[in-house]
Amino acid sequence: MSTAAPVLGDVAGLHFDKLPPLSLYVHLPWCVRKCPYCDFNSYEARGALPDLEYVAALLRDLRGELAHAQGRAIETIYFGGGTPSLFSSAAIARLLEGARAEGAIAAHAEITLEANPGAVDAARFVAFRHAGVNRLSIGIQSFRNDKLRALGRVHDAGQAEAAVATARGAGFSNLNLDLMYGLPGDDVAGAVADLERAIALAPEHLSWYQLTLEPNTAFERRPPALPDDDVVARIEEQGRALLAAHGYERYEVSAYARRGRRSQHNLNYWQFGDYLGIGAGAHGKITLPAAGEIARRAKTRNPRTYLEQAGSAAATSEERVATRPQAALEFLMNALRVLDGTPVEMFEARAGQPAAAIGAARAAAIARGWLSAEPDRLCATPAGAEKLNRLLELFA
Ligand SMILES: C[S@@+](CC[C@H](N)C(=O)[O-])C[C@H]1O[C@@H](n2cnc3c(N)ncnc32)[C@H](O)[C@@H]1O
Ligand code: SF4
Repeated sequence: MSTAAPVLGDVAGLHFDKLPPLSLYVHLPWCVRKCPYCDFNSYEARGALPDLEYVAALLRDLRGELAHAQGRAIETIYFGGGTPSLFSSAAIARLLEGARAEGAIAAHAEITLEANPGAVDAARFVAFRHAGVNRLSIGIQSFRNDKLRALGRVHDAGQAEAAVATARGAGFSNLNLDLMYGLPGDDVAGAVADLERAIALAPEHLSWYQLTLEPNTAFERRPPALPDDDVVARIEEQGRALLAAHGYERYEVSAYARRGRRSQHNLNYWQFGDYLGIGAGAHGKITLPAAGEIARRAKTRNPRTYLEQAGSAAATSEERVATRPQAALEFLMNALRVLDGTPVEMFEARAGQPAAAIGAARAAAIARGWLSAEPDRLCATPAGAEKLNRLLELFA
């Protein structure tokens, strides 16, 4: 819970000279069906979605959150889910118009919307683009129909390829495809073939995640047979080489992009920027220079409760980060995921403390070969990136 603001002259507190960039995350919590591996705050839609009612709630929520923008325009927006492409284009347009009416969106903001191949409609995609969405993230997961069935997905490989063609046809020139590997019964050849099919579609960005068994999911209760570590290591080695050979630079643990096509929204998370979170279960992070603290805000998770409470204090819980070690650890948990590292200056500005505050832990990490010795960057070495949790423990 909130701790007292640091007393004046508390030199060991957090100090912020300027605010980081601001993003907006919008959570749309409904899906056609709940996937057995998914621990996101998502619910099977029963009947018609209350999308316009939900957008009205989002706008109430946004108006409250904009008080925390502290004069900044929103640089990136991400509609995540759930399955945002189930929402009507009118609902998405109304949300973006409402945000623009508050003067809140930067003119060249990156605006991404997650789309599922099982919920694609050409006219809707065109309308999303006209509403201002300029990047789509398509959740393909695999092009193997047996794997898609094992994952409980509602689409097949043909629909996945058609979704990409529909997105291009609607004029989207910035696409991300989500793929997963290490699937039930996976093998090296099959996982690499999935990547080849994705690369053949020439997306600007690829997110390539290892399937994990998450708490409170159907897969946790009845775990499928997953490939062993050796197979996973060979998939990663061959997959990364293939992606690199096709011009996809790995810039974060699971993110690969063509030159100039990194996800600005995700980079803002990883570089410890600020973000407003609206929607059921959405999280936000806001720097508060006057208090010398960072606020972490979370919205009530249940969509029904959210519809009733959005915009009121009851819908939001807040915690404060007020100490140097906590802010440093949270910064590094994000920033060390970025493979080419982060300027030390950014650490000082956004974790609110001098680099000297983490000097001892940094020296220990460099001595173990886990952190690069560059004086002006914080960058995990390949060995450090492999042992990220142990590296972070040095700063805990
Ligand atoms: C917010 S999710 C959902 C996006 C979209 N609803 C979909 O499923 O296509 C974003 C991505 O996280 C990945 N993901 C979800 N659960 C995962 C898990 N248990 N292990 C690894 N990746 C996962 C999937 O690639 C998914 O597309
Ligand atoms: S479609 Fe995406 S968000 Fe929905 S249940 Fe499946 S993985 Fe989760």
